[in-house]
Amino acid sequence: MTGHRTLIVGSTGFIGRFLAEASLGSGRSTFLLVRPGPASPSKAHTIASLEEKGAIVIPGSIGDQDAMEKVLKEHEIEVVISAVGGVSVLDQLILVDAIKSAGTIKRFFPSEFGHDIDRADPVEPGLTMYNQKRQVRRAIEAAGIPYTYICCNSIAAWPYHDNTHPADVLPPLDCFHIYGDGSIKAYFVAGTDIGKFTIKCMDDERTVNKSVHFQPQSNLLNMNELASLWEKKIGRTLPRVTITEDDLLVAAKEMCIPGSIVASLTHDIFIKGCQVNYSLDRDTDTEVTSLFPDASFQTIDECFDNFLARIIDADPVVVVDEPTTEDTIGASNPERKAFAITASCS
Ligand SMILES: NC(=O)c1ccc[n+]([C@@H]2O[C@H](COP(=O)([O-])OP(=O)(O)OC[C@H]3O[C@@H](n4cnc5c(N)ncnc54)[C@H](OP(=O)(O)O)[C@@H]3O)[C@@H](O)[C@H]2O)c1
Repeated sequence: MTGHRTLIVGSTGFIGRFLAEASLGSGRSTFLLVRPGPASPSKAHTIASLEEKGAIVIPGSIGDQDAMEKVLKEHEIEVVISAVGGVSVLDQLILVDAIKSAGTIKRFFPSEFGHDIDRADPVEPGLTMYNQKRQVRRAIEAAGIPYTYICCNSIAAWPYHDNTHPADVLPPLDCFHIYGDGSIKAYFVAGTDIGKFTIKCMDDERTVNKSVHFQPQSNLLNMNELASLWEKKIGRTLPRVTITEDDLLVAAKEMCIPGSIVASLTHDIFIKGCQVNYSLDRDTDTEVTSLFPDASFQTIDECFDNFLARIIDADPVVVVDEPTTEDTIGASNPERKAFAITASCS
């Protein structure tokens, strides 16, 4: 085993799974804090597959300070990565106290994995979540715990404004919902790269007490470009329906959490440009491609190829009508003729 002894909290979640895979892939001792109690089949499957790769599961919750202190000391944990979800963000205040008391943690990565929450200013209910994440940042800094804040921007996927985990859902096959005029750019980063580069930061002293911004230029696209790229992959054009700023604001107000949070963040990204409207001019800023210029990011093109493969694997049988590009589905690869067009455009 190499590297720091690392505890990951939230490894059964959407982002945490990528972090756990990357930590195990790097060959370091990887401990997973898993909440006890009945596990859904998919959670049980995730835990079993991570254990198979060498993870050591520790039952527990970050809400129990004494137990956390014990875990950190007994297992000689050096790095803690938290990827708890929105509802548990404030529980990290207890974890911060435990880390402070243990006194042996060389680095803490709190649950960030999105925007720079000290800069971005979404409408509610995203704002409340950001205020909670800000509270956790201030507690870490006040406690003098060495930290790294991962500001990885958007996950590489079609950015559905009503879906918490868009990477779990295929890009549209019926029509595109384009936010505003579709011209505001965002960084779309593959989940595997969020894991890979977070682990790289862990081993790098240049990232101590820094916000690490993920700004790979190859992954910077606006929605119109994203839509055109997907059209090229599926070999036909789809209608584009505009979702206005007001539509997003209404969704943020009227939908239930977590959908409403996603709508408010979608508004912040694609209307206000929160990923591209600032410069990295603070002492605490650093940028991941400058830190690791030789390490490559998966491109959106490659990510979309993966989505396409998932569609083909699912093997639904539907005729693709009105092929419009030179890369016509079926022209070079007959398998590509298999598409299901099930949803309707509303
Ligand atoms: N950049 C992006 O596009 C993007 C997308 C999604 C999320 N994010 C961010 O990534 C972070 C993680 O979100 P997520 O959606 O991946 O979360 P998630 O899927 O809801 O998973 C949360 C994980 O935390 C665990 N957990 C929650 N409370 C805990 C506690 N008290 N003690 C121990 N474990 C606990 C859960 O365990 P159980 O299985 O026991 O519930 C689960 O494994 C958040 O900060 C979120 O804002 C970013």
